Amino acid sequence: MTTTQDRTEASASVTFPVGFRWGVATAAYQIEGAAREDGRTPSIWDTFSRTPGLVDGGHTGDVACDHYHRYADDVAIMRELGVGTYRFSIAWPRVIPDGTGPMNPRGLDFYDRLVDELLEAGIAPMATLYHWDLPQILEDRGGWTNRATADAFADYAIAAYLRLGDRVPTWTTLNEPWCSAFLGYASGNHAPGRTEPDAAFRAAHHLMLGHGLAARRLREAGAREVSVTVNLSPVFPRDARDRHDVEAAARVDGLHNRIFLDPLLLGRYPADMLEVVERFTGGTHIQEGDLATINAPIDFLGVNYYMPTLVAAKVGEPGSAQFPGTEGVEFLDPDLPRTGMDWPIDPDGLHVLLKRLGGDYVKTPIIITENGASFPDVVVGDEIEDTERIGFLASHLRAAHRAVTDGVDLRGYLAWSLLDNFEWAYGYDKRFGLVHVDYATQERRLKESARWYRRVISTNSL
Ligand code: NOJ
Repeated sequence: MTTTQDRTEASASVTFPVGFRWGVATAAYQIEGAAREDGRTPSIWDTFSRTPGLVDGGHTGDVACDHYHRYADDVAIMRELGVGTYRFSIAWPRVIPDGTGPMNPRGLDFYDRLVDELLEAGIAPMATLYHWDLPQILEDRGGWTNRATADAFADYAIAAYLRLGDRVPTWTTLNEPWCSAFLGYASGNHAPGRTEPDAAFRAAHHLMLGHGLAARRLREAGAREVSVTVNLSPVFPRDARDRHDVEAAARVDGLHNRIFLDPLLLGRYPADMLEVVERFTGGTHIQEGDLATINAPIDFLGVNYYMPTLVAAKVGEPGSAQFPGTEGVEFLDPDLPRTGMDWPIDPDGLHVLLKRLGGDYVKTPIIITENGASFPDVVVGDEIEDTERIGFLASHLRAAHRAVTDGVDLRGYLAWSLLDNFEWAYGYDKRFGLVHVDYATQERRLKESARWYRRVISTNSL
């Protein structure tokens, strides 16, 4: 983990490999709005955000950035920034309003228009199929704890592919299944807000099964690139010489990282995680053949990186609600500067993570599908001088570049996010955008970071 003194930013210029993919990312529920239009039905996030007390400020995604109606303006902004790839997500409840069964052509019409606009602007579309907006009707039947949701997901994936696959080269099945499973079903901070640890492990498995089923069918149908995005965090022990701290770090690494990476990339649960899963669930939801399905070949691994984790062993600690199975583990606050989310800033953590992926796991290429930060931006007239965000992005890009120099097969970087947007349980007050959104008028204004990123993209260097 970076210490305060070695955090000073190197100023030497770095150039990325030819063909490095630069882009920005968003997600449907966070930007689209139009929650009740063209046949869309409620997702678990509509239900969750409309429940008083669950989202800061009582905010919902009902209107969000109104991207559903303003997508052409937003694509024009991306064109202005010189973005090569746009990672967006498709809303399942727009495409299959009943969760299973008939497809809703009007829901897909929106993505059709968006994709055409992107291609017209010379921007490659990268579609994520599940960025957390499960149709509520499926949650009513158990959500991701129900194995049938994995089959329903694969059917939905194919419905989207059949309409858009002729123009969308890159398909990502899931975004951050850890959040869907553990924030959604264990800690309850995210929709559907359940606090049942055993359900979280079942959900994690069925999410991965859904990925595997969808990945196989997408490839059979002719998809050019298939991927999955995971949110990873390097986990550090407080004292690397203390056996108990090291064991605590290994446990949390298992629950955050390996519980997804090993099934997805190696086709097996790590032994220590299988033991935890079985302790909580009995393990009967894991059926023969599932791991082979989950281990479907992917063309790249999407990695979202925001922060590291620091832990120590401590007798009597109850553990974290987000990580069932961490009794005796204390989660510590590293001595690092913080973003506006109060998240520790550690670019070195990204380097450590990328090197480890390149070493421990098969030679799957990697794309950083999200990295970015929220800060309390100050708007002065038309200027938003978000120097802290530029510093964050620059330091992480340098860390990513070091990994490339070290031989990691990193193919691209997508900044989170194009626009300020609905930051889940935090509502609209946390702003991650390169572009500022005035929610009263829906006016978009480039922040200084957007202009800076445009230079990075155009020169392929910083
Ligand atoms: C990861 C999620 O994919 C995205 O939806 C979220 O807004 C960012 N992290 C920031 O928290």
